[in-house]
Amino acid sequence: MAIRFDANKQLFHLQTAATSYAFELVEGKYPSHVYWGRRIRGNQLHTLVERAERASFSPHPVPERGNISFDTMPHEYPGYGNSDFRTPAFEAQYDNGTTVTDLRYESHEIIQGKPALPGLPAVYAESDDEAETLRVKLRDSLSGLAVTLTYTVMESLNVITRSASFSNEGSGTVLLRRALSMSIDMPGDRFDLLHLSGAWSRERDVYRSPLRPGMQSIESRRGSSSHMQNPFVALLEHGATEDAGDVYGASFVYSGSFLAGVEVDQFRTSRLFMGINPFDFGWQLEAGETFQTPETVLVYSPDGLGGMSRIYHELYRTRLCRGAYRDAVRPVLVNNWEATYFDFDADKLEAIAAVGSELGMELFVLDDGWFGKRNSDTNSLGDWFVNKEKLPGGLQDVAGRINKLGMQFGLWFEPEMVSPDSELYRAHPDWCLHVPGRYRTEGRQQLILDVSRPDVQQYLIETISGVLSSAPITYVKWDMNRNMTEIGSALLPPERQRETAHRYMLGLYSVLEQITSRFPNVLFESCSGGGGRFDPGMLYYMPQTWTSDNTDAISRLRIQYGTSIVYPASAMGAHISEVPNHQVGRLTSLQTRGHVAMSGNFGYELDLTEFTDEDKAIVRDQIAEYKTIRPLVQFGDFYRLRSPFEGNVTSWMFVSKDRTESMVVYVQVLNEPNEPLGRLKLKGLDPSRNYRLAGTDRIYGGDELMYAGIAAPRFHGDFGSALIRFIAE
Ligand code: DGJ
Repeated sequence: MAIRFDANKQLFHLQTAATSYAFELVEGKYPSHVYWGRRIRGNQLHTLVERAERASFSPHPVPERGNISFDTMPHEYPGYGNSDFRTPAFEAQYDNGTTVTDLRYESHEIIQGKPALPGLPAVYAESDDEAETLRVKLRDSLSGLAVTLTYTVMESLNVITRSASFSNEGSGTVLLRRALSMSIDMPGDRFDLLHLSGAWSRERDVYRSPLRPGMQSIESRRGSSSHMQNPFVALLEHGATEDAGDVYGASFVYSGSFLAGVEVDQFRTSRLFMGINPFDFGWQLEAGETFQTPETVLVYSPDGLGGMSRIYHELYRTRLCRGAYRDAVRPVLVNNWEATYFDFDADKLEAIAAVGSELGMELFVLDDGWFGKRNSDTNSLGDWFVNKEKLPGGLQDVAGRINKLGMQFGLWFEPEMVSPDSELYRAHPDWCLHVPGRYRTEGRQQLILDVSRPDVQQYLIETISGVLSSAPITYVKWDMNRNMTEIGSALLPPERQRETAHRYMLGLYSVLEQITSRFPNVLFESCSGGGGRFDPGMLYYMPQTWTSDNTDAISRLRIQYGTSIVYPASAMGAHISEVPNHQVGRLTSLQTRGHVAMSGNFGYELDLTEFTDEDKAIVRDQIAEYKTIRPLVQFGDFYRLRSPFEGNVTSWMFVSKDRTESMVVYVQVLNEPNEPLGRLKLKGLDPSRNYRLAGTDRIYGGDELMYAGIAAPRFHGDFGSALIRFIAE
């Protein structure tokens, strides 16, 4: 049993294979956090919580119990207005304009399995014995607002998920002004906060800083999870490292605006919270209606940041991603974007594919520019019919030519967008997000379709399905290239305008659910100007994401390293592109570009017809090698060895689940004169086995490789790299 309730102690104890999470009902009414961390036997946990009477500035709700105060209680789902002055998990406003809510325990149930969240992406259990779920119902008797806290324990995966749902069981209207998915009051403040922040083409840099008193948070107000902040935070106990120490991760399964952070209070309790961004959010609940928050995924690891990452990788790879490609190796692709941009015809595409096929590539992806009258990014989004000037034989003809070369054919879309210069916009000017009478701000000369509208959803499903049925298309790149402005919907009444952004996400999820189920054998890759929506919400529908528009091998070290904090390599698109690199102008060798890109879903994005014979020989070998290591990269365990945020060298490695195969990638950015000789200690191998260095007869002990290490590779020149494989004897 993963979840137990001790009625005497009023204690809920949730256990995974390696962790415990517990909370109690103070006075039988108020859910109060007790513990989250390494697994604890039995139910002695209540003895952990100490209470002390505080000054009158921390009032107490039970008059005769001076040592109970909401201001000091470690809450499981704090409200506001009756003496907890810290940041609340929710705020509800009633017909009389007031915002005070008094939630008290009403009932609970424990069920096998993990029910889906209606209309939302979420981690799933394949069978009921993989998970157990606790629902705790709290109720405000005056208003009739009920809040159900849902906890699911995935025992063997070492994961606990949390969400909340609000039901209006009263007769009035309730306006939700804030509805976070979870809040946990962690004892003490001896933690560092880690988050992944960046910008377009510089996504997911790793930031770590000690907590200080007060609020510290990250958020997106862009209507997407964003390049700037990823919906993830971790608390690392002071001194925790990549390999050791207590780490607590919280990851948000959502693709829209979010808020995540920590408030350290006067008694040094650290309140960790995460959910839909309350900024510009509101949700009106009429009598009988329910609102479900998205899910947060909580991971505790005593084995440092690396241990936490591997738990997320396994979970997201196997119980978040879905579909035929979840467990299938991903094809080596060539994409024409950086090769041609908008300037191509069918012969040019075929010529690129012909070289790709000769070199072992498996999928040709036709990127932007195949539809409407699109010869630049100024028009035609929404007009998803073939540009007959460029492709007179249509998609059938292009796909046929590609298939004849023995390759699969994939296609780019940007379905959520509309160009003002398009047939779609001229026919339906009301179909975009906008506020009546206000200027419609464009980004890349485009507006955003109002995907909260059922008619827009239907249009998207039918139009995209029509194109996918019109030719043998086995891969889709689903792009999205701007953020929301003038967020309003022509179909919603005034009092529901602040629901638009979340309704958009629900609409998008519904469209994705229907399209991906109609085309179960198509591999979908999500993209938002690269990694602007690299989040668990999108991974639920599409098992891989274009990691960044920046394909420079050296920039990618930081981008892929930062992304690996939460997301598995099987989720990351990684391509070799041309030099000088189009984003940063850097020159790196084909080898280094290959070693970095081979650490994800590998592909090429350059004009293959310009390859010399020497390039072709290198690329042929790269692809052959990638095909050998592909299952290891896509399904193996990932270990970070050296951080690009800490020095001149980046290194990581993959180890197969049975620990028989491994691969190390090592990149040195700048060469140094007369440099010291370095050692690199490997991780994750079996210490009792011997491993052969691939391509040689040299045998090493697993213990030797991990405890003594190997001589760090040395290079002549900048941007040197090595890919080293050890295979068990
Ligand atoms: C942004 C994407 O990230 C690129 O890879 C490319 O598909 C362009 N959009 C096309 O407009």
